[in-house]
Amino acid sequence: MSGYMMVKHSHMTLAVLSLLFFILRAGWAISGSGLLTRPFVRIAPHVIDTLLVACGLYLVFFIGMQPFVVAKLIGLVLYIVLGTMAIKRAPTARQRAVYAVLAVLTFAYIMGAAIRHSPWSWFSATLGT
Ligand code: HEM
Repeated sequence: MSGYMMVKHSHMTLAVLSLLFFILRAGWAISGSGLLTRPFVRIAPHVIDTLLVACGLYLVFFIGMQPFVVAKLIGLVLYIVLGTMAIKRAPTARQRAVYAVLAVLTFAYIMGAAIRHSPWSWFSATLGT
C-alpha cells in the first residue's frame, strides 16, 4: 500500500473514532455522568482530532485544495462549535441533545463531502470526480 493510501486509511479510521468518541461523550454530557471529567476522556479526543486534521493536511498536500476540502474544513469548524455546545456549554440536557444531533448531522455532511468529493456532499449526483 502506498504512503498516501496508508495515511488516507488512518484518516478514515480516525474520523470513525472521532465520531464514536463524540457520541459517547455527548451521551455522558446529557446524562450528567462524572466519566466526562476523567483525564483520558478529556485528552483523547484532542489527540484523535489533531491526528485526523494532520492526516487530512498531508492528503491535501498531494491532491490540492479542492472545493470539497474547503467544505470539509468549514464543516469541521461547525462540528467543533456544535460539539462544544453539546458537551460543555449548553445548560440543559435537552439543549445538549439537540446540539449533539446537529453535530452528528454536520459530521455526516463532512463524510458525504469526503466520499463524493463534492461540497454538495450526499446530494452530489456523481460518486467522486
Ligand atoms: C470530521 C472531519 C473529517 C472527516 C469525517 C473526514 C472523512 C474522510 C473520509 C471518510 C475520507 C475518505 C473518502 C474516500 O475516498 O472514500 C477522507 C478523505 C480525505 N480527507 Fe477527510 N475527513 C475529515 C477532515 C478532513 C480535513 C480537516 C481535511 C483537510 C485538512 C481532510 C482532507 C481529506 C483529503 C484530502 C482526503 C483524500 C481524498 C482522496 O484521496 O480521495 N479531511 N476524509
